[in-house]
Amino acid sequence: MSRTLGISRTAVWKRVNRLREQGYRIDSAPSAGYRLVSIPDKLLPGEIQNGLKGRFFGRKIHYLEKVDSTSRLAAEMAREGAPEGTLVVADSQAGGKGRLGRTWISPGDCNLYFSVILRPRILPQGIPQITLMASVSLCESLRRDTSAPVRIKWPNDLWVGTKKVGGILTEMSGDMDRVSHVILGIGINVNMSAGALPAELREKATSLCLETGKTHDRVALLRGILTALENDYGIFCEQGFRPFQLRWKEASMTLGRSVRVRMPHKEISGLAVDLGPEGYLRVRSGNGMVEEVVCGDVTMVENPLENMCEAREGSHK
Ligand code: BTN
Repeated sequence: MSRTLGISRTAVWKRVNRLREQGYRIDSAPSAGYRLVSIPDKLLPGEIQNGLKGRFFGRKIHYLEKVDSTSRLAAEMAREGAPEGTLVVADSQAGGKGRLGRTWISPGDCNLYFSVILRPRILPQGIPQITLMASVSLCESLRRDTSAPVRIKWPNDLWVGTKKVGGILTEMSGDMDRVSHVILGIGINVNMSAGALPAELREKATSLCLETGKTHDRVALLRGILTALENDYGIFCEQGFRPFQLRWKEASMTLGRSVRVRMPHKEISGLAVDLGPEGYLRVRSGNGMVEEVVCGDVTMVENPLENMCEAREGSHK
């Protein structure tokens, strides 16, 4: 090993010990050398980058075993000039942030918590579309790599069946005419057991492992997501949201359902009938009026008429 690497045996020994400190199990025998026995179940930058296909997302990685919030740290790094595609990833969060001021439960060493710095040349009005694009990209990536039937609940929640498995928090810095940076914060429940969730969330949240009965390789999942996201972000920057409209509809679990939408200024109920080209949710209320929802919190309402309505709407694509 020392000959191949062109370094002294002591230097090899020091590096092996550094790897052991990070959790790699490496056996050694006096005349046989070293043998890698196991890799730690951590989101270590070297492991993520090993086999990463993209050119930007994840080329610079800031890893922490524990942090308050990867998005808070990524925003700080973006303000200090970190380049687009910088990834902040942690094995646990003490103050994970969710949408609408909620908390994102982030137990250690079982899920994915990461934030990517973006510097899109768009107006602030286009930011919600970035989140929709990311939800499509994530949903497809997770379906492909885990076989879990992941779907999107408008605007960007990832669900399996009747429970949430992941979410996206998009935060922007800039002014009316210019976006300085966007932090795309993503949390995915990968191998979390039900016991790791507070009792009140067990009916509402799940993990990919609980849904598929399999433990998933977090590093491989993250690599797949970063590659897909970089590719889709490139398409978005060139062509806008249009190429994602149909993909979003195909992955949606909201269309065709009765919903209640809580917006900052009012609440409406109706049937979610379509997603417009700008990414707005179209909701038809009882009086037949179709309203376009730009932002809000959607609750799906159990409604015996739902199936009839769905049949009448036909395809949602
Ligand atoms: C949601 O409410 O659905 C969005 C959840 C986003 C959670 C992720 S975890 C990584 C990143 N850091 C945070 O503090 N939040 C996001």
